[in-house]
Amino acid sequence: MGTLSELEREASTCTRCALAAGRTTVVFGVGDPAADLMLVGEAPGHDEDLKGEPFVGRSGQLLDRLLWEELGMRREQVYIGNVVLCRPPGNRDPLPEEIESCRPYLEGKLAHIRPRVVLTLGRFAAQTLLDRKDPIGRLRGRTYPFRGGVLVPTFHPAAALRGGGQVLAEMRADFVRAKTALASATTAVGAEARG
Ligand code: URA
Repeated sequence: MGTLSELEREASTCTRCALAAGRTTVVFGVGDPAADLMLVGEAPGHDEDLKGEPFVGRSGQLLDRLLWEELGMRREQVYIGNVVLCRPPGNRDPLPEEIESCRPYLEGKLAHIRPRVVLTLGRFAAQTLLDRKDPIGRLRGRTYPFRGGVLVPTFHPAAALRGGGQVLAEMRADFVRAKTALASATTAVGAEARG
């Protein structure tokens, strides 16, 4: 396995699926490559496609706010990526074959970063990583064992921007779940280190 930077370089010229033709930039991911917490969204939108960074539009502003208010963390302290690295035309949902084509990049990031907690945003990330078809409203509200750590599914911030107070309150509760999972993972590691 090469480095995360090598994987990013490889992705920057990717033509595995048809989304390559319409993109401005491949949005690989940003943040701390040694982060304990990794966030996984759906796909870049208009702003992300232009800037080459995930979650820089309105959804991103809400995400930054929730990270700060519920976890006391800034985006530089976590790693943020998406299931699909290129913008689907007109912001349509990513197709199953696009998710599959992009999957090696997602798996590569998970393998390099080895986050203790993965917080998925929206149904595509939760369904892809948990390999389940249930709607996000049924998947969220609990934690799942995930590759030696924990996965916490929550809504996509765009759903809170559309759906208002109830969705936002449930997202806040999920962010608190991620915080609790991070704290217990860190305590477990401390205990391991102390022997
Ligand atoms: N929505 C996403 O799922 N990802 C982004 O990067 C931006 C908006």
